[in-house]
Amino acid sequence: MQVRGRVVALVPAAGRGTRLGEAQPKAFVEIAGCPMVSIAVEGLLSSGVVDRVVVVVPSELLARAADLVPEQVQVVAGGAERIDSVRAGMDAASDADFVLVHDAARALTPPSLVSRVVSELQAGRSAVVPALPVADTIKTVDDAGDVTGTPDRAQLRAIQTPQGFAADLLRRAYAAAPAGAFATDDAGLVERLGERVHTVPGDPLAFKITTPLDLRLARSLAGG
Ligand code: CTP
Ligand code: MG
Repeated sequence: MQVRGRVVALVPAAGRGTRLGEAQPKAFVEIAGCPMVSIAVEGLLSSGVVDRVVVVVPSELLARAADLVPEQVQVVAGGAERIDSVRAGMDAASDADFVLVHDAARALTPPSLVSRVVSELQAGRSAVVPALPVADTIKTVDDAGDVTGTPDRAQLRAIQTPQGFAADLLRRAYAAAPAGAFATDDAGLVERLGERVHTVPGDPLAFKITTPLDLRLARSLAGG
């Protein structure tokens, strides 16, 4: 059964980009002459499945961000950790039936991946994440650097964004998160509730621009 609903995309873009090491916050670094945050918003809008976009940026960059995105895109101030920024975005998305959370740092995400996630939500899934097989062997290590285990790679996936949720489920997950909770993604908070999170095939182009090497790759893919 297809259920329609209002889709609001939150774009966390309030990080500092410490690992990238550029002079300005990462989402404002340009790829082919365009700031990552603008490219990410354009990708969401051009998917045709997003009704509204809320961008979350460092508070001192609110005005600058508003100049970089289309007029209908709302811009709000983020917080110290990603979880704080997503919370700020959710506060601005009370009209949502479905929420997508999509890192500005995944600027080259194809619109087809956005629609793949939304299709699953509209088909009745309440939490959907893009996933790719991992190429490297992953090991766990202890504080001394000694290996403590080698999980079966066949069962591991690298998880991307956009992550899609029924809005009330994501609100419940954030409400239940303990103060100072550590989560590197939003689905992790939903998993804590014991709710099912479904994967869809991710896309290599949705890689997160984290390091200088990632930025070189993104610029080379985008032609500048
Ligand atoms: N983010 C955010 N608010 C924060 C931290 C991160 O909105 N307080 C956003 C980033 O802007 C990015 C996404 O979350 O789009 C993923 O985070 P990450 O890649 O870690 O970006 P940064 O935190 O900026 O980078 P770093 O960890 O290297 O400082
Ligand atoms: Mg970070």
